[in-house]
Amino acid sequence: MPGSRSIAPATGRLGVLTPGLGAVASTFMAGVLAVRSNNAAPIGSLTQMAHIRLGSREEGRNPLIKDFVPLASLDDIVFGAWDPISANALEAARTAGVLEDRDLAAVSGELEGIIAMDAVFDQSWVSRLEGARVKTGNSKMDLAQQLMADIERFRLENDCDRLVMVWCASTEAYRELSDVHATIDSFEQGLRDSDERISPSQIYAYAAIMSGVPYANGAPNLSCDAPCMVALAEREGVPIGGRDFKTGQTLMKTILAPGLKSRMLGLRGWYSTNILGNRDGEVLDDPENFRSKEVSKLGVIDTILEPGLYPELYGNVDHVVRINYYPPRGDNKEGWDNIDIFGWMGYPMQIKVNFLCRDSILAAPLVLDLALFFDLAARAGEKGVQEWLSFYFKAPMTSDPSLGAEHDIFIQQIKLKNTLREWMGEEPVTHSEA
Ligand SMILES: NC(=O)c1ccc[n+]([C@@H]2O[C@H](COP(=O)([O-])OP(=O)(O)OC[C@H]3O[C@@H](n4cnc5c(N)ncnc54)[C@H](O)[C@@H]3O)[C@@H](O)[C@H]2O)c1
Repeated sequence: MPGSRSIAPATGRLGVLTPGLGAVASTFMAGVLAVRSNNAAPIGSLTQMAHIRLGSREEGRNPLIKDFVPLASLDDIVFGAWDPISANALEAARTAGVLEDRDLAAVSGELEGIIAMDAVFDQSWVSRLEGARVKTGNSKMDLAQQLMADIERFRLENDCDRLVMVWCASTEAYRELSDVHATIDSFEQGLRDSDERISPSQIYAYAAIMSGVPYANGAPNLSCDAPCMVALAEREGVPIGGRDFKTGQTLMKTILAPGLKSRMLGLRGWYSTNILGNRDGEVLDDPENFRSKEVSKLGVIDTILEPGLYPELYGNVDHVVRINYYPPRGDNKEGWDNIDIFGWMGYPMQIKVNFLCRDSILAAPLVLDLALFFDLAARAGEKGVQEWLSFYFKAPMTSDPSLGAEHDIFIQQIKLKNTLREWMGEEPVTHSEA
């Protein structure tokens, strides 16, 4: 049996900090508080509900993940956030309209006590929003230092043993990486020069890493996925990862596409369209912000289907993704997928998927799992990109970008569980024997 890794115990309090206190963050916080008071079940969360098989099937060892690895307890979590609009988590939850009043009532006092700190916000990256409570400073480096001061203050005031940060703020406009993102030096010089190519989310990522706080990016814009950030995370010994929570339509895509491929069924086209009416939808209505989302969504099918290996099955796929802002729907998104497949002798068939989902209900448990697993990774001595958490992301970061990301949700799940087994000194489960 392999030796287990030394993992520091999850003693004391864990502060979960979210840049962004909107629909996802407030639904996550309200849900954790409800679970804590036994008013809800943590559905959708692997850390709370999933079991992990150990050894061969006949051994019958199937503990809960949370009993197998030393995760922070929900009772030890404290919440913090930054937002330029929402004043506190209760107001954010009411604006988002995801949870009903009866569910908010039981936790309203605690939600109201989660007060948003002033944000590092720049409208040129999110043109649809007007920020009211925004930090000002002499330079972007000054703003980063103000965030680091917020982090330290939060740590002391809440008596936190450890912190993690999960980006739950609006999707920023699409911009390519540039030479300012190349090295730690060029990025720090860019911060001092207030280089316009540095986005607010990159300032948060920098502040988190410099404070020794693991950072996960739940949005599609580039944040910690830049060479300077990866180098900084390696240097500072901090785990990072991203990007874009894998929920909704992309979740369905990464469930269905591996199934089609496993049966060697061909794919000619995949047309996906969505309507949603929350603030996220409003932000994504701007083509520049939608471009970030489009890029993170489009990579999925190609990497799963490997057209290079299977040109006759997957070499000619039209993949289209649309998102339309439609206020009546609020957070209750509706997605339609038309999938044109072909089978034996090339005969065409169609699959239609109509997913009436709730975006933040799907995303909230991912925030919880990411917070707990990133904290675990830090205590296990991990640093840099955490590929084993690709399971949670639409466009997972890789430590070696030339290898490409793994999108197949089943492979991602095996990798996640085998990583936990390895850290705890258990054999990986390959399903090749009993
Ligand atoms: N809900 C999902 O299923 C899902 C899936 C994948 C990704 N995401 C991403 O998660 C993010 C949050 O989604 P949401 O539905 O909660 O959106 P939301 O609009 O309800 O909340 C985002 C919040 O971020 C705030 N914000 C904007 N810029 C900020 C900054 N620089 N600093 C701090 N706060 C800032 C906004 O004021 C807003 O309150 C979005 O980027 C979205 O694309 C959501």
